Amino acid sequence: MHHSTLPLAMLGVQGAAAACTRAFLQEAAANYLKAIDLGQPSLLPLSSSATYGENDVTFPITSNASVFAAPIKVDFSRSLFDTTQCATFTELTSTQSSHPYVIHTQIFYDTSTASPSISKIQSVVADTGDWIFNATAYLEWTTYETWSAIAPALLDSRSTIKAAGDAYLDQWGNPSHPVPFATYCSRLEGGLYTGAKNLTSNSCPMGAFPSPLNITNRRYVIDEELGAIDIFNDFPFLEASYPLEKPTPSSNLFRVEKGGIRYIHENTVCATKNCGR
Ligand SMILES: *[C@@H]1O[C@H](CO)[C@@H](O)[C@H](O)[C@H]1NC(C)=O
Ligand SMILES: *[C@@H]1O[C@H](CO)[C@@H](O)[C@H](O)[C@H]1NC(C)=O
Ligand SMILES: *[C@@H]1O[C@H](CO)[C@@H](O)[C@H](O)[C@H]1NC(C)=O
Ligand SMILES: *[C@@H]1O[C@H](CO)[C@@H](O)[C@H](O)[C@H]1NC(C)=O
Repeated sequence: MHHSTLPLAMLGVQGAAAACTRAFLQEAAANYLKAIDLGQPSLLPLSSSATYGENDVTFPITSNASVFAAPIKVDFSRSLFDTTQCATFTELTSTQSSHPYVIHTQIFYDTSTASPSISKIQSVVADTGDWIFNATAYLEWTTYETWSAIAPALLDSRSTIKAAGDAYLDQWGNPSHPVPFATYCSRLEGGLYTGAKNLTSNSCPMGAFPSPLNITNRRYVIDEELGAIDIFNDFPFLEASYPLEKPTPSSNLFRVEKGGIRYIHENTVCATKNCGR
């Protein structure tokens, strides 16, 4: 990270809060991808108290258990920029034969000092054996979709985007809870796609779960310009080897257009092969 490119750092202002701009977050996300590509976490501007976690387990980023332990060749990524929280979200797909991955990562920056530094990195790391995992299929569908900037006149508010994502997860606890789907909606869940090329329907609604699920521990990154929200959450029930209430780590990424959900990407980790299902 080139701290010298940050305006306040250039001015040498001490103790001043840094502004969190979209340009800063774009550069930060590019830097994260470079660190992943090289397997070099030292490229990240970590604060001295920064925490690192994968699949809800916290450990040192330099550990050989971390995804940074070896370079990852990324085929495709998309990122969200949340200037309100000074946070990024990145979805990356790697079909490398040595170890395919789909990784969802939320990174939060501390702006209380002149140069923003990373306070927290958390990832949902899916690989072979995780929920319907197929990196090749995930790559094919995520690149097929259109996630271009929302036209200025059609921007949804942060609260509208958040309400749409929350409504989808709330419905798992109450099948009659209304969810604002767009006319056309597709869900990418592991390597499974509910939609099709030249989509002509809303294929996103879920059937009711055997028992209502309370989706807790929601962590958000929201990008109004992309009409997008990612929600890390605790997903109970799915992992068959766990008691009903014990959750497994999950990330749900949404594209919202004119208040309606257009795309959903779910990345969910299993403790046993395909969550024992
Ligand atoms: C990872 O580190 C641990 C602890 O240092 C060590 O026991 C283990 O062999 C290492 N695993 C690999 C794959 O390098
Ligand atoms: C993964 O998806 C690709 C592309 O759709 C498909 O060709 C392949 O057979 C799938 N692999 C498995 C193990 O299902
Ligand atoms: C989708 O639409 C495009 C353009 O109209 C057409 O060329 C293509 O064949 C269609 N694909 C499918 C799978 O129907
Ligand atoms: C869901 O869980 C949260 C946190 O444990 C709790 O506060 C809330 O009341 C629960 N909601 C329902 C509908 O059970």
